[in-house]
Amino acid sequence: PVLVVDYGAQYAQLIARRVRDANIYSEIVPHTMPTEQILAKNPAAIVLSGGPSSVYAEGAPAGDRRLYESGVPVFGICYGFQVMAQTLGGNVAHTGLREYGATDATLTGNGVSFLAGTPVAQNVWMSHGDSVTEAPSGFEVLASTEGAPVAAFVNEEKKLGGVQWHPEVKHSDFGQQILENFLFNVAGLKPTWTTGNVIDEQVEKIREQVGDAKVICALSGGVDSSVAAALVHKAVGDQLTCFFIDHGLLRDGEREQVEQDYAETMGIKVVTIDESDRFVSALEGLTDPEDKRKAIGREFIRSFEDAQRKLVAELGGNGEDIKFLVQGTLYPDVVESGGGEGAANIKSHHNVGGLPEDLAFDLVEPLRTLFKDEVRAIGRKLGVPEKIVARQPFPGPGLGIRVIGEVTRENLSVLRAADAIARAELTKAGLDNEVWQMPVVLLSQVRSVGVQGDGRTYGHPIVLRPVSSEDAMTADWSRLPYDLLAKISNRITNEVQEVNRVVLDVTSKPPGTIEWE
Ligand code: XMP
Repeated sequence: PVLVVDYGAQYAQLIARRVRDANIYSEIVPHTMPTEQILAKNPAAIVLSGGPSSVYAEGAPAGDRRLYESGVPVFGICYGFQVMAQTLGGNVAHTGLREYGATDATLTGNGVSFLAGTPVAQNVWMSHGDSVTEAPSGFEVLASTEGAPVAAFVNEEKKLGGVQWHPEVKHSDFGQQILENFLFNVAGLKPTWTTGNVIDEQVEKIREQVGDAKVICALSGGVDSSVAAALVHKAVGDQLTCFFIDHGLLRDGEREQVEQDYAETMGIKVVTIDESDRFVSALEGLTDPEDKRKAIGREFIRSFEDAQRKLVAELGGNGEDIKFLVQGTLYPDVVESGGGEGAANIKSHHNVGGLPEDLAFDLVEPLRTLFKDEVRAIGRKLGVPEKIVARQPFPGPGLGIRVIGEVTRENLSVLRAADAIARAELTKAGLDNEVWQMPVVLLSQVRSVGVQGDGRTYGHPIVLRPVSSEDAMTADWSRLPYDLLAKISNRITNEVQEVNRVVLDVTSKPPGTIEWE
């Protein structure tokens, strides 16, 4: 693989994705990993990420000469570029000129190297205070900016190079090309990592892991668990049984759709387990969001344990040959749970499954090394229906965290009706792919006065929360066409009796979160 050494920037994942966009497999490792361990992974090349520190700051992650002398090609970005310069005898200084955001870079001298094919003057995205003022000996300077006299350098022979700017962000005009030039032309790598290869590789791995045993999978109806199930099904066929917990907090038609899509379209056995009574009773009287989330999480675990028993009965035998559980864990979860120190707990997230810790299963996690868009590509290739593959995110706790106030069957049915209208209209307008997701929220504790058919009403507001986002970590409110908003508002207030007002949430994240609870 190409290893991306993470110097603590939020950019490491982005870099790994860009390398994969070049059809080369990449993985992220923390900068605290010792050099021997990094080299023991047999990297085809190494990319050093940016980071928040100054190379001079006390405790700043230091470079290790052995890494650069190992013969493995290394590309440094921002902080990684400075670390490389400093370690190899160049000079890094605080020039007093900070550059942040769009910056003009100029290619210097004759050396083009990995900047080949890009214009002499180009727009790059910067974020730095320190600058490399002198390249290490043996290196050729390739570009400069006003604040960074040495903004790119290379040592072709040793296959070492780097840039001060961030080629991984889209705001750098030729970023992808520069990265690919380095990987293909300087490092000499070949683009062999494709969706088809990933499927073949995973299928083989699953077969090896599972053998003749039975496998179960908890479906949520979402992209990840569906694609994971499809991969396992391709590998071991009917040894796989999926179950789907209906927690009563689903949207209109969701359960029926899941049953139909998997059984009919994908040929996967699904056992639905109706647990709506359990969840709705557990939510009785609760209004605090964290209390609600915790109650839902707890009931998931209980239902899961019950489901296990039901599946044993369903599949026959004593259950001893059911050894494996499929999980749709994605690469960002793996990276984040490895490196997330001291992150504030904003919300108690949990996925469908919210699984007990003492599970007597071995996990099958075929998506562990993949990003969401790669999972989607694999799903498409496996024939997972487009409406599942392209599905917008829907939280595990479902409508339970979209009824603000107490969750009751009545509140749920009001919200379900409003949500169905909003979703249908969004789809009809052809905007499903442009909008990341559109939570529809019922404010059950708020009432306002309205007038309908000459009479006074005293109903509840519905909030529309359409957002655009790339990864749900940050988001902006979507500028939906007014006509569409008018249509949704009209229909909801006409068709859902308890609702007499529809409002639009125009808050970005941060400061708001996407969901209201
Ligand atoms: P927030 O509200 O934190 O949501 O901005 C970010 C993304 O995560 C989804 N979400 C959840 N997904 N279990 C999940 O599987 C959860 O408990 C959960 N809470 C929020 C949310 O829909 C958005 O896509």
